[in-house]
Amino acid sequence: MKHTLEVMISEAEINQALDKMAEQINRDYAGVDSLLVVGLLKGSVIVMSDLVRRLDGNVHLDFMTASSYGESTESSGDVKIVMDLARSIKNRHVLVVEDIIDTGRTLSKVLALLKSREPASLAIASFLDKPSRRLVDVEVKYVGVAIPDEFVVGYGLDYAEAYRQLPYIAKVIPAEE
Ligand code: PRP
Ligand code: MN
Ligand code: MG
Repeated sequence: MKHTLEVMISEAEINQALDKMAEQINRDYAGVDSLLVVGLLKGSVIVMSDLVRRLDGNVHLDFMTASSYGESTESSGDVKIVMDLARSIKNRHVLVVEDIIDTGRTLSKVLALLKSREPASLAIASFLDKPSRRLVDVEVKYVGVAIPDEFVVGYGLDYAEAYRQLPYIAKVIPAEE
């Protein structure tokens, strides 16, 4: 599809939102001896690296790949765990980091799986939230920016795998014929 991009959230706005998220997370986990931050690949890779560099204390990282969108702009609803975590999360304080929560299918599936592994605590931080699109109820404790129902790319978010590397978040505008 021919399209253009229009900046929706600038790099400066992203940094401001990250500072706020990190402040809340640092406050909430100040008493724990170690925090395991779990990034869901691939979308979370950029926010994960920016967020963890703002976190205090003993922070560990792990990754999991869950995919539902494939090459399309619509979630298929069929969420696959393509790659699991490297280590056990039993009795660990776990914070799952996502680039965006849309229908909630990805996070609800991942959360159910992680919960069954008996972590000490489990919470979610998602940089973007599209609340109007939610199909499954999921509690997201830390949100960077809530956005309307627009297809967005950049800062980890892709359109057919492209644009993840953009340092800002942009709206995809279909070109007129
Ligand atoms: C995207 C995004 C979230 C998920 C949100 O991932 O990164 O993980 O969809 O949608 P949902 O709330 O409707 O489940 P995608 O499956 O495209 O994989 P990717 O992270 O590799 O881009
Ligand atoms: Mn994703
Ligand atoms: Mg994707």
